[in-house]
Amino acid sequence: MINCLILIGFMGVGKTVVGRQAANAINSKFLDLDEVIEKNTNQTIKEIFKVDGESVFRELEYDVLQSSITLDNYVISTGGGIIEFSKSYKLLQDTEQVIWLKASFETIKNRLNSDDIHSRPLFDETVFDRFNRRQKMYETVANFTVEVDNLSIAEVAETIINRYG
Ligand code: S3P
Repeated sequence: MINCLILIGFMGVGKTVVGRQAANAINSKFLDLDEVIEKNTNQTIKEIFKVDGESVFRELEYDVLQSSITLDNYVISTGGGIIEFSKSYKLLQDTEQVIWLKASFETIKNRLNSDDIHSRPLFDETVFDRFNRRQKMYETVANFTVEVDNLSIAEVAETIINRYG
């Protein structure tokens, strides 16, 4: 039994769908932190950004990360910007089994449709800078990296299972 696997990576890289598949395959439970935040606040991520702003969202995100990270037998997918908030970054750095799903910007753009983009307030005109800025942070906190550009969702999940299952 695993303690908990944490998936990190940029928006659109497939953390939620890969996480669900991997969790199923190894009989773990699955948690998506964005979904937990939406449920707890009864607001969409987009609304939280609009009404309260990014800094309030990052605190909420840190709170759910902190309370989820100690769970046993869970696969957890995080929001792409979680590493931009120093408290969350430190927590991830101190945690084992952080898996970075790494993709090129090209792959990410191709995978997101317009609904996906509209539901993500930070997929704006600065997204490419954001992408570049975050690469080093993902790399630093990750214990294991999966390059996803040429892999299907099932293959990414399988790579994770082979490593940790
Ligand atoms: C964000 C990514 C989103 C969500 C929010 C902010 C980001 O999650 O947490 O819109 O800063 O990159 P996904 O990575 O699941 O899209």
